[in-house]
Amino acid sequence: MSYLVAANWKMNKTVGDTLEYLDLFLPSVKDLMKIEIMIAPSFTALSSASIRLDAAKKEGEYNVKLGAQNMYYMEKGAFTGEISPLMLAELEVDYVILGHSERRHIFGERDDLINKKVVSAVEHGIRPILCVGETIEEREQGKTLSVVERQIRNGLAGVEKDMVYIDIAYEPVWAIGTGVNATPQQAQEVHRFIRSLINEISKGNDQKTRILYGGSVNEKNARDLTKEPNIDGFLVGTASLDPEKFYKIITEVMEV
Ligand code: PGA
Repeated sequence: MSYLVAANWKMNKTVGDTLEYLDLFLPSVKDLMKIEIMIAPSFTALSSASIRLDAAKKEGEYNVKLGAQNMYYMEKGAFTGEISPLMLAELEVDYVILGHSERRHIFGERDDLINKKVVSAVEHGIRPILCVGETIEEREQGKTLSVVERQIRNGLAGVEKDMVYIDIAYEPVWAIGTGVNATPQQAQEVHRFIRSLINEISKGNDQKTRILYGGSVNEKNARDLTKEPNIDGFLVGTASLDPEKFYKIITEVMEV
């Protein structure tokens, strides 16, 4: 699997901002096929972004995928305010970020709900990026690996044999949006653990599962993190909002 550098824009950028960004960003990554890039704009901008990406791909070679930041697991029904896998599939969304720390901690999403979403995404051919990670209190209490293990075992229940269609993002809560990234050693320790866990639960079927790191990734720390053997990509928030910084992260990854 190629390295994946993914942008999670969170609740930022209107449709206009999204198109402006893509106009600046896309020419810089034309013909750059070695690394996979994913952009997850807001739901309201997905349709325009999808059309813009399609148009770009008719003009040249782009390895840029489209992602959604969340999804409900049902196809349709009385679920006011939710977005279904059919709606995402219609827009040719390739990836969906599930179980992000902000969904867990601000919106109260729990492992069982996140699991239903992961199962549904796989069923609908949308590649889930399951996010896991400990809070600072959990880390200080020495619970990092047990929290990550619980989130992964619960999040992947029922899709263990489908690991080739799933990616994981390790995002320590204390590193998200704080400017304090996990050190390459801290990330590597957890990534190695996740790799062996996936290997165990999927019975050696894990080779296509990427383990991304997320949490204050920027153009300055990306290179050192990339050097770690079990880090297969990044999920980038703040630094991805600026097309130049995001491109710089991509070039740092390319140089390792
Ligand atoms: P950050 O966010 O890069 O701003 O820390 C990462 C994320 O939440 O995915």
